[in-house]
Amino acid sequence: MRLRTAFFGPLLATATLAQNGTKSTKYAVQTPPLTTNWTYTVGTNPWPEYPRPQLARSDWQSLNGIWTYQNTTSLNGTPPFGQVLPNEVLIPSCLESGLSGIQGEYTIYSWFRTSFTVPSSWAGRQVLLNFGAVDYEATVYVNGNNIGFNRGGYFRFELDATNYVSFNGTNELLVFVHDPTDSGDYVIPIGKQTLRQSHIFYRPCSGIWQSVWIEAAAANHIIQLDVDANMYGTVNITVYSSGESQSPVQILVGSANGSSATAYNGTSDVPFQFTVPSPKLWSPDSPTLYNLTVILGTDQVTSYTGFRTISKGVVGGVVRPLLNGEFIFMFGTLDQGFWPDGLYTPPSRDAMVYDLEVLKSLGFNMLRKHIKVETQLFYQACDQMGLLVIQDMPSLRPLQDYFLSNCTSETILPDPAQQAEFDRQLDILVNQHKSFPSIVTWIIYNEGWGQVIAGYPEFGLTDRVMQLDPTRLVDSTSGWYDHGAGDYSDNHHYANPQCGTPFYSIESSPFDPSRIGFQGEFGGIGQNVSIEHLWNVQQAINGINQTYEIDETIDAWNYRSHALLTELKDQTNLFSCSGGVWTQTTDVEGEVNGLLTYDRRVLRPNVTQWKADIQALYDAAASRSNSSMTFGTDYGYDRAYRIRDLFWK
Ligand SMILES: *[C@@H]1O[C@H](CO)[C@@H](O)[C@H](O)[C@H]1NC(C)=O
Ligand SMILES: *[C@@H]1O[C@H](CO)[C@@H](O)[C@H](O)[C@H]1NC(C)=O
Ligand SMILES: *[C@@H]1O[C@H](CO)[C@@H](O)[C@H](O)[C@H]1NC(C)=O
Ligand SMILES: *[C@@H]1O[C@H](CO)[C@@H](O)[C@H](O)[C@H]1NC(C)=O
Ligand SMILES: *[C@@H]1O[C@H](CO)[C@@H](O)[C@H](O)[C@H]1NC(C)=O
Ligand SMILES: *[C@@H]1O[C@H](CO)[C@@H](O)[C@H](O)[C@H]1NC(C)=O
Ligand SMILES: *[C@@H]1O[C@H](CO)[C@@H](O)[C@H](O)[C@H]1NC(C)=O
Ligand SMILES: *[C@@H]1O[C@H](CO)[C@@H](O)[C@H](O)[C@H]1NC(C)=O
Ligand SMILES: *[C@@H]1O[C@H](CO)[C@@H](O)[C@H](O)[C@H]1NC(C)=O
Ligand SMILES: *[C@@H]1O[C@H](CO)[C@@H](O)[C@H](O)[C@H]1NC(C)=O
Ligand SMILES: *[C@@H]1O[C@H](CO)[C@@H](O)[C@H](O)[C@H]1NC(C)=O
Ligand SMILES: *[C@@H]1O[C@H](CO)[C@@H](O)[C@H](O)[C@H]1NC(C)=O
Repeated sequence: MRLRTAFFGPLLATATLAQNGTKSTKYAVQTPPLTTNWTYTVGTNPWPEYPRPQLARSDWQSLNGIWTYQNTTSLNGTPPFGQVLPNEVLIPSCLESGLSGIQGEYTIYSWFRTSFTVPSSWAGRQVLLNFGAVDYEATVYVNGNNIGFNRGGYFRFELDATNYVSFNGTNELLVFVHDPTDSGDYVIPIGKQTLRQSHIFYRPCSGIWQSVWIEAAAANHIIQLDVDANMYGTVNITVYSSGESQSPVQILVGSANGSSATAYNGTSDVPFQFTVPSPKLWSPDSPTLYNLTVILGTDQVTSYTGFRTISKGVVGGVVRPLLNGEFIFMFGTLDQGFWPDGLYTPPSRDAMVYDLEVLKSLGFNMLRKHIKVETQLFYQACDQMGLLVIQDMPSLRPLQDYFLSNCTSETILPDPAQQAEFDRQLDILVNQHKSFPSIVTWIIYNEGWGQVIAGYPEFGLTDRVMQLDPTRLVDSTSGWYDHGAGDYSDNHHYANPQCGTPFYSIESSPFDPSRIGFQGEFGGIGQNVSIEHLWNVQQAINGINQTYEIDETIDAWNYRSHALLTELKDQTNLFSCSGGVWTQTTDVEGEVNGLLTYDRRVLRPNVTQWKADIQALYDAAASRSNSSMTFGTDYGYDRAYRIRDLFWK
């Protein structure tokens, strides 16, 4: 379809006024139930960083900032072309957050509008319109033309706007967003979002919650780079092109110190390999990255990689996760990535990195990104800082029931079409993130949420993920319904751990010594600091008493933390524990069990004690792997399986 410049020119000339002559309500931060130090520093130019660091182009322009917004009531509205919508809104943001300027509820159907100009120097090239993430479905119009649709609240998408933009005038961008979250019969990936908040389920996020930008690229351009660089210096790379396949490509690999670059040649759209001699390896202690420049015809992008290998192997009689061929005890937090002012959108990169710095300073070498997917800048920060990432697929609805007309209830699980959509989005998760060196493991299901039991679909999904990404481990079921799929035997237990041990609580599956023994969640002990640091919403405050354990003082909390970390250390010494996940990085709403309060203003850990306790875990793992002790490898295997088979019958 051709550009309709003549039609849009006059309308856009009155762009500061609504059609009826009124202005949009001016943007202002709405006071959230709790602020952070960053809330009032965000301003109207948020997230200015280039959002896709592993496929970066120099000619780009951010569309973040103040847009206008209109709440609507159905899927079938007429697009409000050429109108200024009633409320200004900050992009990117969640409509339910204070930072959005809306802080709405039930924002299920929304229109967003902005206008932009394209640099005239881009004429003759492709103009690509990019969204970091829109929750949940987006329909995008440029100058009155529907240019694309995307489904999936956590993933980036790119639309070719070349034929619809004007290079010498203003362009109108209108986006319709539909986000049902857990309304009605919808069963879609939502993670911890819910329209009915309750203790561990939180205020949802709707809308354009990650950066929006345009960039210029050659007609035949790079659309995806899959890069794996291993401990032997071999780089396996696929450069996907938009145009004719199998064109020559050139890769420039910078040295670790940036002083020089070496060129390697290859072909687009097929994997090819080359070897960098004696690379400095990537690890949490030495997170060395190498810059890449990738050239395809006249298109050029920058990227980076880290040389490391993730695998598993038997060390001292125990199945272990290996980093660069050696057992690595992975110790991290459950990291949910919620913010009291921005919900899913951290106020800024600095705020986001602050959490990671706290983890690093306490000695954690890992985090479990819990049923949420972050901006690519988050994974880049983990790559740069040396934090391993265990990445969860955002779960479908947790175990909620429908009430049927005959007064019985039935657990809400995906129907075949909903399951197929979950599977499609799992592919996207892996494909969009498989080049980040920090990611070491994919988790498919958390605690049975949305997990169909009939037919055990986790086996097929595990095979699928291993096929899409043969370079990482798969934790098929973190907690609960373990039927033997994947690389991990992952226990969840509160408050104390039961990691790779001969004892387990009846709701858990027994440890399976043929897989990696792991404590996917434990800890979760709470401490109610004071109202100044609480999410000041009555429903959340009423739920605080559902925390597994409340310790009256921070000293008591540290005493208990020491006991629980020591228990994990004992299990590491005696049994087959290869790592654990402490719940959690921060408080979230009525869950007051973070290392940090939700506002990030109080750090509960006694840093000296925690650093020593975490170091003791690594020391225990190192001495366990050096010993020839086999206790813990062959006990109770048959008995454990018999019980499991009975239990899951
Ligand atoms: C927040 O600001 C206070 C007061 O300036 C300061 O003491 C504190 O360290 C800051 N916290 C964070 C997380 O930046
Ligand atoms: C003008 O239109 C806006 C957006 O539809 C609406 O919010 C506002 O109430 C209208 N004002 C008048 C005076 O009709
Ligand atoms: C949006 O519209 C829905 C349906 O009318 C309503 O329930 C909700 O409160 C509205 N939200 C905002 C932010 O206006
Ligand atoms: C703008 O560009 C169009 C073609 O894209 C051209 O027809 C038109 O004359 C240009 N207008 C101005 C004012 O340069
Ligand atoms: C390179 O990566 C591709 C895509 O992931 C994979 O199919 C292929 O087996 C890999 N080749 C080598 C030599 O590792
Ligand atoms: C930088 O690294 C290159 C390649 O490893 C090496 O030859 C060079 O001596 C290094 N330069 C400095 C200043 O360390
Ligand atoms: C890699 O590139 C980034 C930005 O392009 C630059 O800041 C950094 O210094 C480079 N690192 C090396 C080792 O060359
Ligand atoms: C790599 O490709 C470049 C440009 O296409 C060419 O000039 C160069 O000779 C090639 N190098 C090798 C080693 O084939
Ligand atoms: C209630 O209705 C459901 C769905 O129609 C049916 O599967 C179930 O057997 C019924 N239960 C009873 C007790 O009748
Ligand atoms: C928690 O507190 C709420 C209200 O404050 C109360 O209704 C509920 O019974 C309490 N639950 C427990 C487990 O104590
Ligand atoms: C937590 O603290 C808040 C604010 O002081 C208080 O209202 C609430 O009752 C406390 N809840 C628990 C379970 O300690
Ligand atoms: C923190 O822990 C260390 C080591 O256990 C201890 O010596 C110190 O007294 C503790 N500090 C506080 C403030 O409790």
